[in-house]
Amino acid sequence: MGVAQLPLLAANWKMNPIDGGAALDLVKGILPVASEHSDRVEVALFPPFPWLLGVAEMLDQTGIELGAQDCFWEMSGAYTGEVSPAMLKGWCQWVLVGHSERRAYLGETDEMVARKAAAALSSDLSVIMCVGELDEHYVAGKGDEVVSAQVRSGLSSCSADDSSRLVIAYEPIWAIGTGKSADPEHAYKTMRLIRRVVGETIGAGAARKVRVLYGGSVNSGNVESYVELPLCDGCLVGGASLKAEEFSEIVKVTAAVYAHG
Ligand code: 13P
Repeated sequence: MGVAQLPLLAANWKMNPIDGGAALDLVKGILPVASEHSDRVEVALFPPFPWLLGVAEMLDQTGIELGAQDCFWEMSGAYTGEVSPAMLKGWCQWVLVGHSERRAYLGETDEMVARKAAAALSSDLSVIMCVGELDEHYVAGKGDEVVSAQVRSGLSSCSADDSSRLVIAYEPIWAIGTGKSADPEHAYKTMRLIRRVVGETIGAGAARKVRVLYGGSVNSGNVESYVELPLCDGCLVGGASLKAEEFSEIVKVTAAVYAHG
């Protein structure tokens, strides 16, 4: 666990739901359990941009936090279609950067991810930076190399001062949306590696404060096997966060693990 920080459960809704009413219903379904456990588990919801404002209003005074799924690295200007950290700051505490789907479908590079992270941190947002290897890297035993390089480049414009607002999510790409979650032993080794690389890049003190999450086919049945790992500070949840009951169960299981830990 990071120093004096709660475990974090981040709900990445991706490009769902299509309907704004359904987004608000989902928040309504999640709120009771998430609020009840907010002294033990930090919960942050990451809806699509158009639903941020409505969700922000619902989350006001609840202790549940809000994040955007991406941001640009400039604060304003002629960047059609982009959303800046300065714009998000009014609604959100968090922003996700470097998700593998953006890297794969939109060609985001490590350099772009680094610029986004630095811009978001400079706007006082907290950042979840996603890293993870492809199946072919994993099979070839090159996962550690790929993940280390992503962490090193992604943090190239960050400093130790950012560490308490910085989270790295290890999401092996072969585990995302596949139902094939990573073996906890593998997740543990990679999260340990990530913390080491964070230490080498921005300092050992910082590495203790940065939180490291696991993501990839997390559900209420397997979440315990990750959050009980000594170096795991929580999970980044995709598909299972779109079902209020299932996500509430994930919150309950996590709260129970930390109550005993
Ligand atoms: P799933 O939980 O659907 O595998 O997605 C994980 C993810 O990409 C979260 O960012």
